[in-house]
Amino acid sequence: MTVGAARAAAWSRRGAAWFAGAYGAAPEGAWLAPGRVNLIGEHTDYNDGFVLPFALGRGTLAVAGRRGDDIIELRSRQVPDGGEAVSIGSLQPGAIPGWAGYPAGVAWAMREAGHPVAGIRLLIDSDLPRGAGLSSSAALECAVALALADLHGLAVPRFELVLIAQRAENDFVGVPCGIMDQSASLLCQPGQALLLDCRTAETAAVPFDPAASGLELLVIDTGARRELADGGYASRRGECDRAARALGLGSLRDVTDISQLARLTDPLLQRRARHVFTENQRVIETVRLLRAGRLGETGALLTASHESLRDDFEISWPEADAAVSAVTEAGALGARMIGGGFGGSVIALAAQRDSARIRASVDSEFSRRRWRPPRFIDATPSAGARRVPAGPPP
Ligand code: GLA
Repeated sequence: MTVGAARAAAWSRRGAAWFAGAYGAAPEGAWLAPGRVNLIGEHTDYNDGFVLPFALGRGTLAVAGRRGDDIIELRSRQVPDGGEAVSIGSLQPGAIPGWAGYPAGVAWAMREAGHPVAGIRLLIDSDLPRGAGLSSSAALECAVALALADLHGLAVPRFELVLIAQRAENDFVGVPCGIMDQSASLLCQPGQALLLDCRTAETAAVPFDPAASGLELLVIDTGARRELADGGYASRRGECDRAARALGLGSLRDVTDISQLARLTDPLLQRRARHVFTENQRVIETVRLLRAGRLGETGALLTASHESLRDDFEISWPEADAAVSAVTEAGALGARMIGGGFGGSVIALAAQRDSARIRASVDSEFSRRRWRPPRFIDATPSAGARRVPAGPPP
């Protein structure tokens, strides 16, 4: 369901009640940060390339109030037994395992960036499935970063918050993610995808409103799970760095012609570099089509992205490949895996009138293979992170 203003206000009001129940005090506010879907541009962010994500209507709510000391207190509705209370001054990278490391890491990274944040109570709630490739971690970081900045009256520019949230994940939690997810959560706008040049940090809003063209972008959570912290993501980053070095380039973004890749003698590095080069081109072409109002024609690019991630980057997984085949055979315009790989979700672009048939095709393929049923998630391009006033009681 889309987090419209009324729903967000109702969530904020319920959050205030949970906060009061947990801490015996009223909160000072609630901040909501969305998860994201990356339309196209996968594994390009840490290669200085282009990405094109949009914000989901689902996200993470951080209900917060200052304490007047140096302690950060953390509770999550999703982890009833997992609370923490630690002094911000004593935080050390790697010291807090599990979900609490993300918000604690944000407080640490704010201080490291020179922002004087003090003790705070946080109550977290989320309607994003974890491990589904929809950036639940970035949503958590961004909601907390915005809450900390606002409550301490710090006018931190949004892009600096992006870097702080990424630093929390890279250096405090120890997950080597790029910059896409935090950018999407903090910078996206409703009805738009966000074109981000990860080299220059330049952004542009690109119109993306499938419903207006009689289309639907369907998110299919395949149910397969693999955390980013697993080795596959880091090893792909390492391979991309090696490929760039072997080509004498600062990053794979600097490849200007596919013929340059023939100089890579290692076929594996050649495949990795080919994915990054062709994927950047697909992002640019997708943006061109979206700006020309030709959304339906982007389907072939989505499917080509999937094939490249499957064959050249080798990060797809059986449920994703089966879902992409099922939906394209059932008439989807295009489909691909999204996120870091090895588990999570697939997106499919289809005419609204074909939606029921396309969902049924994945259901029956998964049931034929005796896999757990997939989960379908609405993907309306929605607003980026914001403070949500609590609405009046119903
Ligand atoms: C994860 C990372 C992002 C990006 C994608 C792959 O979502 O957090 O930074 O690298 O994988 O495109």
